[in-house]
Amino acid sequence: MISLDNLYSSLPDRLMRTIKENQPLSQLSTLGTGGVAEFFASPESLEELQEILRFYAGKCPVYVIGGGSNIIIPDGNIKGLTISTRNLKSINWLGNFTAEIQSGFSLPLLLKTIRGRNSGGLEFAAGIPGTIGGAVAGNAGAGGKGICDFVDEVRALDSAGNLRIYRRSEFDYGYRRCSISDEGVIIVSVLMTFRESRAEDEKEFSDFMTRRKNQPLNSRSAGCTFKNPEGYSAGKLLDECGCKGLCVGDAVVSDIHANFILNRGKASSSDVLRLIEICASKVYGDMGIKLEPEIKTLSPCFCV
Ligand code: EPU
Repeated sequence: MISLDNLYSSLPDRLMRTIKENQPLSQLSTLGTGGVAEFFASPESLEELQEILRFYAGKCPVYVIGGGSNIIIPDGNIKGLTISTRNLKSINWLGNFTAEIQSGFSLPLLLKTIRGRNSGGLEFAAGIPGTIGGAVAGNAGAGGKGICDFVDEVRALDSAGNLRIYRRSEFDYGYRRCSISDEGVIIVSVLMTFRESRAEDEKEFSDFMTRRKNQPLNSRSAGCTFKNPEGYSAGKLLDECGCKGLCVGDAVVSDIHANFILNRGKASSSDVLRLIEICASKVYGDMGIKLEPEIKTLSPCFCV
């Protein structure tokens, strides 16, 4: 079987310019931790991503990073190809309220754009970082609402670069979950329909912004660490169990909101993962409630 190094040296010139070797990834995660990708690409078009996938198809694991706001990138060398969707960021309006949005488009920018067009619906997303692709993959949301409620269609590529289209009836979703993320595909764009803005949207927007004031938004973190167990707030449980201030290396539980783990300097991903385990076992030991992480560890989208 051809080695990845040989494969790399046989890349056509245009792909050689796109694919980098030994790329540090920590800056692509909001936590600022993680290792080095053996091969890395940040394609600027759907066609370029298809070409890359066709070249690498079946030859190595492929990892995908969106906005990096909800993931832990493993430490050390990440063998295979890592793809960032950050340069797939076009938006194409198909009507007053409907747009096809590429997966790397920023969620905060989407919210600003639709509010500027007198559209509404996404107020609950006020202050949520990341890209629309990541937001759909994890049905990002707050206050019982989620992004997937506004999605008509998801377009994704399989490991061989073939386009797959999932209409609304062909996927399901729930609290911080969307079935497409289990399909082994890369989301490349979503078709979304918003609604006309309403008088009450402003208040909803500012209420969500206010709730964010009790979150450590100026520190490096991956957002809320755990999902809220039904009927409970994970932050409140962690706080009641005395987790604030617990640390492993430079990973520390925030003093402002206990469901946030911060990188206060040189934390590694293993420090963060160990601290997650410690917090979960403290809550289980004290309260008998199992916390499930909301943050995901980067794992291959396609394996060989
Ligand atoms: N609380 C504490 N101590 C803490 C943290 C919270 O007592 O350390 C209490 C608060 O005082 C409040 C309750 O717990 O009474 C709930 O806290 P908060 O309003 O902050 O809401 P949350 O349930 O912790 C959820 C989402 C957030 C979203 C906020 C605001 C989850 C896991 N979290 O947080 O989403 O920003 O509502 O809308 O669903 C994320 O997904 O990354 C995230 C941060």
